[in-house]
Amino acid sequence: MARDQRDHYYKKAKQEGYRARSAYKLLQMNSKFHLIGKGDSVVDLGAAPGGWLQVAKELSGGKVVGVDLEEIASLEGVITIRADITAPGTAELILEALGGPCDVVISDAAPNLSGVWDVDHSRSIDLARQSLALAKSLLRPRGNFLVKVFQGDTFIEFLNEVRREFSRVQSHSPKASRKESAEMYIVGRKLLSGPVRMGDIVDVEISYMGSAGDGVAMVDGFAVIVKGGAIGDRLRVRIEAVKPNFAFGEVIARI
Ligand SMILES: C[S@@+](CC[C@H](N)C(=O)[O-])C[C@H]1O[C@@H](n2cnc3c(N)ncnc32)[C@H](O)[C@@H]1O
Repeated sequence: MARDQRDHYYKKAKQEGYRARSAYKLLQMNSKFHLIGKGDSVVDLGAAPGGWLQVAKELSGGKVVGVDLEEIASLEGVITIRADITAPGTAELILEALGGPCDVVISDAAPNLSGVWDVDHSRSIDLARQSLALAKSLLRPRGNFLVKVFQGDTFIEFLNEVRREFSRVQSHSPKASRKESAEMYIVGRKLLSGPVRMGDIVDVEISYMGSAGDGVAMVDGFAVIVKGGAIGDRLRVRIEAVKPNFAFGEVIARI
């Protein structure tokens, strides 16, 4: 008997009409992180056979688009696209189907496993990185992102790439993932759309004082709060944290 046939979530999926046991991973992660809300439009990358699509449709009731290299059997109220998420032109195909930016991008895309840990990890990172690039071009500001990655050497590097783009980022392993699995999910909430990112070095001039007594500089219309800055100070600051509407900067030099 194959391992899958003994699996609790495999049986549950069969009984409850989900196309894949992975449906429970998305249900569990959505309960914890509230990524998909009622009315949200959702894009699912690497969506075949469609377990996540079923869950996304149930949770949102909004527009849901699924993309995969494989054909996805039709699902009521869901648009499916057969395409390679790493190919140029796929973003346009998805945007056309959506008719505008979406609220949530989820990606469970996974390479065919070779069994060689490093090879599988680096292919998985390539797909995750491509999913992040697509999320940046498909999501509205403050939109949410969920992506699967097989653990390995460059996991942290990729986690930090996601950290630069979203206000709140966590990694998580849902209960429905198999214990022996190397997969992890990265959850990014609230896509940042301001002009600065964590770690950037920028030259600013303090133009007013905030209510808490910190200096505030504007960078392309975006507020950077600088502790200790006074009106008129010209400062070189390192961006320490970024929120959707403002950032915190630390003075590294007077200029
Ligand atoms: C684990 S399955 C997804 C399961 C899905 N979340 C569900 O609940 O039914 C991973 C999928 O990623 C797809 N995939 C891998 N590379 C891809 C690529 N470059 N473009 C599109 N899909 C890809 C595979 O074809 C496979 O169907």
